Amino acid sequence: MSDLSQAASALRGGLFGVQVHVFAALDSTNDTAAALGRSGAPEGTLVIADRQTRGKGRLGRKWDSRPGLGLWFSVLLRPEMDVRRAAGLSMVGAVGVASALREGYHLSAEVKWPNDVMVGTRKICGILAEGAVTGDAMDFAVLGIGINVLHSEQDFPEDLRAKATSVSLETGKAVPRVEVLAGVAAALESRYVAFKRRGFASVRPELLGISPLIGTSVRVTAGRDRLEGTAVDIDENGALIVETAGGEHRRLWAGDVVDFA
Ligand code: BTN
Repeated sequence: MSDLSQAASALRGGLFGVQVHVFAALDSTNDTAAALGRSGAPEGTLVIADRQTRGKGRLGRKWDSRPGLGLWFSVLLRPEMDVRRAAGLSMVGAVGVASALREGYHLSAEVKWPNDVMVGTRKICGILAEGAVTGDAMDFAVLGIGINVLHSEQDFPEDLRAKATSVSLETGKAVPRVEVLAGVAAALESRYVAFKRRGFASVRPELLGISPLIGTSVRVTAGRDRLEGTAVDIDENGALIVETAGGEHRRLWAGDVVDFA
């Protein structure tokens, strides 16, 4: 587990250093963070594991979480806002990760709506936001972040090799995972504090500045729906606006951009 044992000292003093739980292995850091959330743990609690045996991706997918290579962690948030407003949290997370990778390692990291962090056409980080809700109010949210750090191409499952990248592959250096964690935690904290104060408007300009989809032709799947058109905007609530061939503007709240060019 090596460098992860230093996570608590690397995060000391920040919001995400309030409680740091480091594990050699967990089913999913999101599940453990949610259990801590239910038992009253404070905002900022961070759960990190060297390996996940049931790492979860978006849309019910699995997240490959082998040991020694990635940063697999979740943060517990108590944003005190209604569910509709909290929907922007995963994009806040993606912008925080992308900005930390840009500033810390000069990577041209971008955010592919809704919340994949990409370098060029390859994914370097995925985010899974989950929450517990009473009525319209968020009890807490869990922001789960998976960043490929030390992977070589062979370390990815075969079907992902052409689609995934890591901090090491992009920089040519074996960057310590705790160093990436500290940079991401700081970048995330500043965006999250602004988001609580001003909502999605606080992150939208930065997001639009690093969104490779805008102005491109996209194919999007949203549940059973398939949509093709030109991505023209991300609106003030975080929805992707796609202009169809007929000139209609469709607003998408969730989905998967399967192709863009
Ligand atoms: C995706 O792109 O599909 C989202 C992937 C999210 C993976 C992270 S790893 C840490 C946290 N725990 C999980 O089980 N999933 C998230």
